[in-house]
Amino acid sequence: FATGALAGLQVLVTAGPTREPLDPVRYLSNRSSGKMGYAVARAAREAGARVTLVTGPTALAVPEGVEAVRVETAQEMLEAVMARVGTADVFVAAAAVADYRAASVETHKIKKQAEHLSLALERNPDILATVAALPGGPFTVGFAAETQDLERHARTKLMKKGLDLIAANDVSNGQGFDVDENALTLLWPGGGTTLERQPKERLARQLVTVIAQRMGEANSR
Ligand code: PMT
Repeated sequence: FATGALAGLQVLVTAGPTREPLDPVRYLSNRSSGKMGYAVARAAREAGARVTLVTGPTALAVPEGVEAVRVETAQEMLEAVMARVGTADVFVAAAAVADYRAASVETHKIKKQAEHLSLALERNPDILATVAALPGGPFTVGFAAETQDLERHARTKLMKKGLDLIAANDVSNGQGFDVDENALTLLWPGGGTTLERQPKERLARQLVTVIAQRMGEANSR
């Protein structure tokens, strides 16, 4: 792990879950703890970058030297990212962003009524795809959380969203979300490598090393 691998660069990281309100006391969310994204932020900082972490609600301490911006919803995360991405050299989307939000948020607590209740949902913006589509945007790294056909689905996300790199993790059987260890399959256009199961802190350092290598290759072409 080269400590100066990202020296002088600005890195923007998203982490954690988003919370999509249903009414004043309820929300839709997921099991993301933020550990993976916070570890990426810490590793990028150790590699010499200036790091901003846009984070959904987590119980974690912000890594030393990292600037944190706290958000709740996907829409807030998008706005916080778009306000800062202009100066970013690298964008890493480790957050588990809710794909859907309530079509309307009730002003009062939803009352218990019939035996069944249906919720109308609408699509949230895709933050990663929005950043990847920016002309002259940063080196863009997505994550892919899959429960089957990991590599095939991740490569589709890489190509469809036009990413520079994707870090795919198997999240079946209690893996990936809210645990201390993870394993990643890294894919980029024309190549890839696997990072074996290990603590997220160490895994993040290896990911940062690969990001620096891939950026170096892109620049030397
Ligand atoms: O937080 P931990 O408990 O440590 O768990 C880590 C993790 C499993 C959450 C992490 O390793 C991970 O996989 N993060 C991405 C989770 C996810 O939402 O994956 P996805 O395949 O649904 O999304 C693909 C990519 O698009 C991700 O980079 C995601 O951040 C991004 N995305 C998705 C939807 C959306 N509306 N906006 C986005 O930016």
